[in-house]
Amino acid sequence: GYEHFMLKEMYEQPKTVRDTLSPRIKDGKIEIEELGMTDEEIRAINRIHIVACGSAYHTGVTAKYVFEGMARIPVEVDLASEFRYRNPILDANDLVIIISQSGETADSLAALREAKEQGIKTLGIVNVVGSSIAREADKVMYTWAGPEIAVATTKAYSTQMMASYVLAIQFALVREQITEEQYTGYIKELQTLPEKIQRIIDDKERIQWFASKQANAHDTFFVGRGIDYAISMEGSLKMKEVS
Ligand code: F6R
Repeated sequence: GYEHFMLKEMYEQPKTVRDTLSPRIKDGKIEIEELGMTDEEIRAINRIHIVACGSAYHTGVTAKYVFEGMARIPVEVDLASEFRYRNPILDANDLVIIISQSGETADSLAALREAKEQGIKTLGIVNVVGSSIAREADKVMYTWAGPEIAVATTKAYSTQMMASYVLAIQFALVREQITEEQYTGYIKELQTLPEKIQRIIDDKERIQWFASKQANAHDTFFVGRGIDYAISMEGSLKMKEVS
């Protein structure tokens, strides 16, 4: 029913974002059963290393702002191809998060193995069920985006963002960096996202009008700061891949 898979997958985003969020929000509270970490363990985290490639790396850059801003946990984000070769300094209380749609990207898998070899706790944020990263990480949070056929990721990227936000909000509460009231507020905001994404998608004509105005541009610059910087990098990658 769509011209191509990428368009279909963009249209699936309200559902996939809801599918990532709803199993983890119960009675207005975040429950990430698969995380298998006690509050003490969450409080003991010294540093988070997020390791990924491509768009998943861009999710990591966003997640750094969110984890640091909300939960006040220092975060390093690495391209997996760098992490695996740079002999990273890891501490027993660090957490390594590998983000991957396919769960098979060779550099990301090698980075995961490097962290495991050093005895560091690992968490995979992965889409493909039963993939190598999902199987080998100590814990796995599935993004439940369904099969992603287009090479340029869309729905998987948005669900990676959701998984990261859910994790950051929970860590922030456990580490007493946000109040119960803020916690409830953030969760409510997250729950409004599927509807907001739907509204953007429904505005297709306006987006097409805008695209047609810009389509002859020779170069495109995406400019942003903070979280918008991370989004700009992803916008730029998407533009390059697709155009
Ligand atoms: C971008 C894209 C690639 C992947 C990257 C990582 O649209 O699809 O840049 O994000 O190759 O792939 P995964 O997430 O499968 O590890």
